[in-house]
Amino acid sequence: MLELNHISLTFNEDTSDEKKVLKDINLRLEKGDFVTVIGSNGAGKSTLMNVISGALYPDLGQVKINHKQVTGLPEYKRSQYIGRVFQDPMAGTSPTMTIEENLAIAYSRAKKRSLKLGVNKKRRELFEQALETLNLGLEKRLNVKVGLLSGGERQALSLLMATFTDPDILLLDEHTAALDPARAELITQLTRDVVQSTDLTTLMVTHNMQQALDLGNRLIMMDKGQIILDISGTEKKALTIDKLLYEFQRIRGEKLDSDRAVLG
Ligand SMILES: Nc1ncnc2c1ncn2[C@@H]1O[C@H](COP(=O)(O)OP(=O)(O)OP(=O)(O)O)[C@@H](O)[C@H]1O
Ligand SMILES: [Mg+2]
Repeated sequence: MLELNHISLTFNEDTSDEKKVLKDINLRLEKGDFVTVIGSNGAGKSTLMNVISGALYPDLGQVKINHKQVTGLPEYKRSQYIGRVFQDPMAGTSPTMTIEENLAIAYSRAKKRSLKLGVNKKRRELFEQALETLNLGLEKRLNVKVGLLSGGERQALSLLMATFTDPDILLLDEHTAALDPARAELITQLTRDVVQSTDLTTLMVTHNMQQALDLGNRLIMMDKGQIILDISGTEKKALTIDKLLYEFQRIRGEKLDSDRAVLG
């Protein structure tokens, strides 16, 4: 479903600020893979998401989605294949527009023509049905401006907008990090439900190791622009935070900045 071949990216090449942020990244995700991504600050996690979404182009290497070469395809043309939710609850939605208007924009990106319904009763019913699955009562607030919603409500809406047009890949970049524990738990649960019910191929960056262990069928750890650990299946199920920290130290020979990593 997603293939990254020999992806490298350097910022400010040939200057004193030169920073090799991605170094020969190779990754293959099968349909339905739910991969949690951990790694210290500056490891290159968000940059990798940006290369997949097309917000950044790699210097070297290829990105393939569903066997299609998309390496040079601009972000807006890739958006039909990719749903994305960011850390900032303000980033995924437009505050001055209503819930219905935000959903309509997300719908206009749908790759399936049948989803591109006009402003009519049928479309509203679809939106209401989708919102009901969040269990937040948002289906009764279609005409409310999104700026008035709480961070958790906005993230739930962002998640819905990112997924209901049936993308091939879902990218989540610390999408629960800005929320209080109860709301983070709610969004984590919604994420688990939506990925399970749609069998969506998902990459989720998190600083919360417990979340990375609890969710998904595969876990990768990044460090200094490389994937240094890739664990899946029964091996992932048996993982613990202690084992992860041990592996990191074994590979890197240094102690992980565990405060932020463990506490999230
Ligand atoms: N546009 C840019 N120009 C120069 N350097 C950049 C740019 N974007 C990111 N970087 C640098 O690249 C490195 C990797 O950044 P990235 O945001 O991918 O890290 P991350 O793993 O997501 O970290 P965090 O956990 O803090 O979100 C960092 O050192 C960052 O400062
Ligand atoms: Mg990041």
